[in-house]
Amino acid sequence: MTRRLEGKRIIITGAVSNIGKEAARLFVTEGARVVIGDIDDVAGQKTALDLGRQAHFIHVDVTAESSVAALVEQAADWLGGLDVLCQNAGLQHSGAVTDFDATRWDGLFAVNARAHFFGAKHAVPQIRKSGKGSIINTASLAGKRGGPGMTAYSASKGAVIAFGTALAMELAQDNIRVNTICPGWVDTPFNQPAIDFMGGREKQERTVQAIVPLGRQATPAEIAPLFVYLASDESSYMTGQALVIDGGVYN
Ligand SMILES: NC(=O)c1ccc[n+]([C@@H]2O[C@H](COP(=O)([O-])OP(=O)(O)OC[C@H]3O[C@@H](n4cnc5c(N)ncnc54)[C@H](O)[C@@H]3O)[C@@H](O)[C@H]2O)c1
Repeated sequence: MTRRLEGKRIIITGAVSNIGKEAARLFVTEGARVVIGDIDDVAGQKTALDLGRQAHFIHVDVTAESSVAALVEQAADWLGGLDVLCQNAGLQHSGAVTDFDATRWDGLFAVNARAHFFGAKHAVPQIRKSGKGSIINTASLAGKRGGPGMTAYSASKGAVIAFGTALAMELAQDNIRVNTICPGWVDTPFNQPAIDFMGGREKQERTVQAIVPLGRQATPAEIAPLFVYLASDESSYMTGQALVIDGGVYN
């Protein structure tokens, strides 16, 4: 068995289902100890149990700074320090810009964009103590190339990409790398609002076949290895990047 993350101490948010859960599973397989932070306590406890002694669940609501600060403090305590912060929690709302309201817009930004600021603010002092580290933020292809009904989601994910490039410049002197993962269509229930806006699953599948060169959506298992690469020292010379993994749409 390869152990590409032996000794790494990792926090990952939004990791009780789909992409994040698969990333957390690979982190553990590769030898890391992992704190899973999520708002869903039932699924969080179950995920940590499934992953075994190397994993631990801590409740977090990433929209509240005090909750994120508590997650980082308790996680660093359980882990004995911190090497990697992986911010994967996300929310999707779809809708025409004329139908959108400020409450939904702000709610989306609180999870998808502002939370990344809270995470970095509280985790960086801990990672600095380790002498080097990696911050991995999940954005989306939508942060680079939008589509109908996606103005709020795209804007929030575009903010994550811009935040990541600036943060990478700021933290390079500390040997803390910051990179952003931008998946395209991944087949998870997360996309239901977009699918509804498109007029149903059949229409979405036709669109995917038309616009994705590989002709299909990804599975979470096809996205998760990129998290391992960015968490590991294999990516020691990579920072400030927004890495698109989308079956060839964005080129
Ligand atoms: N599925 C896709 O096609 C796709 C494409 C590009 C990017 N993404 C991004 O990947 C990430 C994971 O998506 P997924 O498809 O696995 O969906 P998912 O719904 O399985 O994962 C989202 C996670 O975020 C958690 N979460 C939501 N609000 C939270 C809050 N306030 N505090 C703490 N946790 C909270 C959820 O409980 C869940 O575990 C998201 O950031 C999403 O934007 C997904």
